[in-house]
Amino acid sequence: MKEKLATLSFSDGSPSVDFPIFGGTVGPDVIDVRSLYAKTGKFTFDPGFMSTASCRSSITYIDGDEGILLYRGYPIEQLAENCSFLEVAYLILNGELPNKKQSTEFNTIVSQHTMVHDQMNNFFRGFRRDAHPMAVLCGVVGALSAFYHDSIDIHDERSREIAAFRLIAKLPTITAMAFKYNSGQPFMYPKNSLSYVENFLYMMFGTPCEEYKQNPIITRAMERILILHADHEQNASTSTVRLAGSTGANPFACISAGIASLWGPAHGGANEAVLKMLDEIGDVKNIPAFIKRVKEKDGHAMLMGFGHRVYKNYDPRAKIIQKTCHEVLEELDVKDNRLIKLAMALEKIALEDEYFISRKLYPNVDFYSGIVYKALGIPVSMFTALFALARTVGWIAQWKELIADSEQKIGRPRQLFNGATHRDFVPVDKRK
Ligand code: CMC
Repeated sequence: MKEKLATLSFSDGSPSVDFPIFGGTVGPDVIDVRSLYAKTGKFTFDPGFMSTASCRSSITYIDGDEGILLYRGYPIEQLAENCSFLEVAYLILNGELPNKKQSTEFNTIVSQHTMVHDQMNNFFRGFRRDAHPMAVLCGVVGALSAFYHDSIDIHDERSREIAAFRLIAKLPTITAMAFKYNSGQPFMYPKNSLSYVENFLYMMFGTPCEEYKQNPIITRAMERILILHADHEQNASTSTVRLAGSTGANPFACISAGIASLWGPAHGGANEAVLKMLDEIGDVKNIPAFIKRVKEKDGHAMLMGFGHRVYKNYDPRAKIIQKTCHEVLEELDVKDNRLIKLAMALEKIALEDEYFISRKLYPNVDFYSGIVYKALGIPVSMFTALFALARTVGWIAQWKELIADSEQKIGRPRQLFNGATHRDFVPVDKRK
């Protein structure tokens, strides 16, 4: 087949140059501009990567206009309806859904890595009791590289494999430990007879004093939320993981970098920001005044949990979680909760408002996840940590894909420099 080319011409009479165009299996073609600087002495300028594909990937596909999300080709709706989180994790990591034997083996290996090094209990005690769980996660996950030296050789496939199992298995334990440390309760050791999600809920809400009763509706809701958050293509935190990984940094350090990036309110921190916003609005009667502030961009006011860089249609994850949210509220009988009533009223008003309609701002996954977490009695400061727990699977898969990519180079963007040009040093007594 004839190679497709893009021709770049210049208004200053410089000769035009051709660049190859590559097509993926689905989605927009890309123009390969890697030789642009060599051919023209110019860079592309794309702050925020609005038009830049940073890598080849075969993990997750998003069509933002149509509201489609596929993990390894499977629609998110089908996976959320039919799979456990660990099945989806296997799919994301290995490219195929596991058969029964593979599934059992995978569950067993993950469950064998759930405990953390005992010395980590002491490590936790270095944090203040009121430390934000995301601060704890950044520190503790980065510190895994100090506890598990035997799985940081990134060039050894087996070592990468073990690091992946350790991260997936230990994130629920570390996340629950961050919660217990905050609340002053003793750490709960993992119970490997439980499923991944049951075990997490047990370590979060169980105490040594009494039996923890699992509620299947809550377990299923949590399973779904984790599935919905497991991967999302080249978002900010995943790109952070890849950038850190491109330097040869070890996987624990890379995932810790991803956690830091996820923390921001424009990204994973949005679920926490939604609840803070609802608290600030306080009452349904204050919604119009709040919407007015948002529309006037008064003091950077934003409707948190709305809008997305890629989805310019309903976030498909939001549709699924909205249903789950109603199931959980029904089960827990908390429909009359003030914040929940407020969220539902806010959603209705925003969806009918011209400002949001014309900018294609729809509720995203984090608008509802925060409400579900709140209903489950999870403290607001833990919300983003739960996102990190789920996204760890995607980060690892993307990191492994990066390491295996023969085209991989250290990530090193350039800049449009607009600072001072060359000038000579002036001794302090001669400066103005
Ligand atoms: N509330 C009010 N106005 C908004 C919002 C919002 N949530 N989001 C975007 N806009 C406006 C924005 O001010 C701009 O208006 P104008 O055209 O008048 O200048 C227009 O919509 C386009 O916005 P943008 O900033 O160019 O969009 P972006 O693609 O750069 O930003 C976003 C995407 C997700 C960062 C942004 O929508 C946002 O900050 N939303 C709130 C935070 C949030 O919920 N984030 C979670 C995203 S989903 C979970 C995840 O993947 O991490």
